[in-house]
Amino acid sequence: MESPAYQQCINADCAATFDIGQILFRCPKCRDLLDIKYNWAKVQVPKTLEFFETRWSTRGSGCDFSGVWRFRELLEFADVKDIVTIGEGRTCLQRADLLARHIGHNSGKLFLQYEGLNPSGSFKDNGMTAAFTLARKLGCRRVACASTGNTSASLAMFAGISGQMQGIVFIGSGKIAYGKLSQALEYGALTLQIEGDFDDCLRQVCMASDKLGMYLANSVNPYRLEGQKTIIYRILEARGWQVPDWIIVPGGNLGNSGAFGKAFGELHELGLIDRIPRLAIINATGANTLYELYEQQGLGWNDGRVDQARIDSYYDNMDATGKVAKTVASAIEIGRPVNLKKAIRSLDICKGLVRQVPDEDILEHKAMVGRFGFGCEPASAASVAGLNLLLEEQIISPSETVVCILTGHLL
Ligand code: F0G
Repeated sequence: MESPAYQQCINADCAATFDIGQILFRCPKCRDLLDIKYNWAKVQVPKTLEFFETRWSTRGSGCDFSGVWRFRELLEFADVKDIVTIGEGRTCLQRADLLARHIGHNSGKLFLQYEGLNPSGSFKDNGMTAAFTLARKLGCRRVACASTGNTSASLAMFAGISGQMQGIVFIGSGKIAYGKLSQALEYGALTLQIEGDFDDCLRQVCMASDKLGMYLANSVNPYRLEGQKTIIYRILEARGWQVPDWIIVPGGNLGNSGAFGKAFGELHELGLIDRIPRLAIINATGANTLYELYEQQGLGWNDGRVDQARIDSYYDNMDATGKVAKTVASAIEIGRPVNLKKAIRSLDICKGLVRQVPDEDILEHKAMVGRFGFGCEPASAASVAGLNLLLEEQIISPSETVVCILTGHLL
């Protein structure tokens, strides 16, 4: 069957479309980001979300064990035979009453979506399985990324299980936790240290991918975000398909932020949910590009016509003043988030907001999350620190149902 999926530029003035067989990471016409879109009339979309629960009983066969691919009708670009899976996305929503009591939220109203349970220890596996599946479909041999650690661990793992693709990772000098680096090495990825930070690494890997024909697996790759949509499906599933009031997510390269709004927008368009929750994206104060552009400078989605001149002038000013991202939460130490515009779109879809939290708050809340049994890394704890701030600001009320995403494992 002809694929119901295609690629489309997110810029409303361009909106060019491309076949999924074309390896592209930016729109060749206007250089903007690409989306994966579906001709839903050609997809056998289940009538209700409950359908997906039936896949629990067939988890021993095919790819139904995967917490990503058992939702495959909502990311219908892959042939089942191409799927590269290790059982990613078997993560769960944890009711966190002890933590709730500690930060002044009501019992039974705070949940943690613990993505650290993924095989390589972070949410990245949700997206990487999707990127590798497309890479296999297109016959790619080398897959590359820039990383502060989790992306590289995940990429190296999937390259290993694919048995046919070489993983290549670019790491900023001194910018990676050793536990994460050891995974990339253990799984046999070619690991290159680059002078500079994540933003420099990403620039270089993008250039190298263009020149050397490597398949790029950072979240500028739109298939990554298709896999990451399933984090939302699992949250809904765990809540009996009831939509929470708030989703709170750390914001780094803004892949999750971009994917979550797309997931809710599509579910709503398909009539599978009747309400969209609000989204709070939490930056570290030392890496607060989205916060400054959205909350302080009023950058908006504007029906797909985001003010590029404002973004350019923000980055020019960063360069002129020598401002670089700096935070203890190394996974979100990113000054030029590639999915900025997709995050802005999600904020529009989910009536969202952005907050920044200082490193002290991140560390305090990381300790708190750990104390109550769900170890996470600093970047993940930004979501809980953000909740604390929004409770203080009385924007979130203690009686509202809140899901904080814990993006990565303590180790
Ligand atoms: N949390 C963790 C644990 C991460 O590893 C990352 C990104 C983020 C949050 C940010 O997520 O990009 O969706 O906003 N880590 C990248 C990496 C940079 O290289 O592993 P985002």
